Amino acid sequence: MDFNLDPKHQMIKEVCRKFADNEVETIAAEIDETERFPLETIEKMGKLGLMGISIPKEYGGAGAGYTGFAIAIEEISKSCATTSVILVAHTSLCASMIYNSGNKEQKQKYLVPLAKGEKLGAFGLTEPNAGSDASNQQTTAVLNGDHYLLNGSKIFITNGAHADTYVITAMTDTSKGLRGISAFIIEKGWEGFSFGPPENKMGIRGSSTTELIFQDIKVPKENLIGKEGQGFKMAMMTLDAGRIVVAAQALGIAEAALEESIKYVKERIQFKKPLSKQQIIQFMIADMATEVENGRNLVYKSAWLKDNGKSFGISSSMAKLYCSEMASRVTNKAIQLHGGYGYIKDYKVERLMRDARITEIYEGTSEIQRTVISSSILK
Ligand code: CAA
Repeated sequence: MDFNLDPKHQMIKEVCRKFADNEVETIAAEIDETERFPLETIEKMGKLGLMGISIPKEYGGAGAGYTGFAIAIEEISKSCATTSVILVAHTSLCASMIYNSGNKEQKQKYLVPLAKGEKLGAFGLTEPNAGSDASNQQTTAVLNGDHYLLNGSKIFITNGAHADTYVITAMTDTSKGLRGISAFIIEKGWEGFSFGPPENKMGIRGSSTTELIFQDIKVPKENLIGKEGQGFKMAMMTLDAGRIVVAAQALGIAEAALEESIKYVKERIQFKKPLSKQQIIQFMIADMATEVENGRNLVYKSAWLKDNGKSFGISSSMAKLYCSEMASRVTNKAIQLHGGYGYIKDYKVERLMRDARITEIYEGTSEIQRTVISSSILK
């Protein structure tokens, strides 16, 4: 057993830290405040190879696996969870689903530009009546000659209106329940494809979250991913891996909250000494650091399992469950340690706490993670 990062992963960590310090941290508060989608950062992440970090080199990616991906997301999330969620949805959901289940032509046409960062991706599974109950899809895709006719809508879609390439699910056979769900690649600009207004969110405010509306969109037959009826399983498998990087995102947010708190308690003088000299404060920092360390071990272990071809679904659910709830606890304590200053926007911990909250909800709520974990243990 070796708990050290190997040289390749250490290098990814250093490159991403430097990038996040210079290009991400500097605009994080502004894009949160103004809800600005950071197009310039996406372009820079593309040039650095981050948009396809886990995708093999033969498809234009960096071939760094999920360990490299998790490290990158952890570092970027320490600076800005808006930026990291753009990368998570693009790479772990849209690009990965095409990589895992697409055919040769689909990989050349769609995956390569996604992995190179030339196109931005999004993933549409959630619908008004299909949130946690993902199999209750109402969007339909009806085969009509050489194309499917797509009708319905998706909500809360990350990268929503800003993406170019979308992987979406729809019912191709409503009589078959979840075995009638299929997956498709669709493109921005196709007739009948429009967007709802951007959602006004509590956190990750610079990211784009919108409804996708499909009205008689003609989707060429060749844009079906895999076979008809395989869409639900493919989406679930995609989410299994996606949860590793959402856990890494929550971990990075918690690490940043811990770092900010350590700095603050060493500087802040109350009762004639720094807060860090008070035992009650020392114990809070100890608890926060222990939780962060636990979270990191879960994230790296689930990424290692995936990269080594081992079963990782339960581990990724555990990492996502623990890290997301841990990030909420740690950021909440960070606010407490900052006192009144923690509650105002001049201090980073205020944004960190708002950003942490969504990690307990998207890519499967904590309740769904508990369902997945317990049903595997108790079956
Ligand atoms: N891998 C492979 N197959 C799987 C699977 C997995 N992880 N999970 C389920 N399946 C298969 C089952 O084996 C079963 O197949 P068979 O019938 O052939 O045996 C089939 O799928 C149905 O399984 P279930 O009966 O368990 O399905 P269910 O309807 O009860 O749902 C669920 C299971 C775990 C609750 C699932 O619906 C789920 O994960 N819900 C949460 C959805 C979610 O995470 N949404 C996030 C949206 S994306 C997002 O948030 C992105 C973002 O913004 C950043």
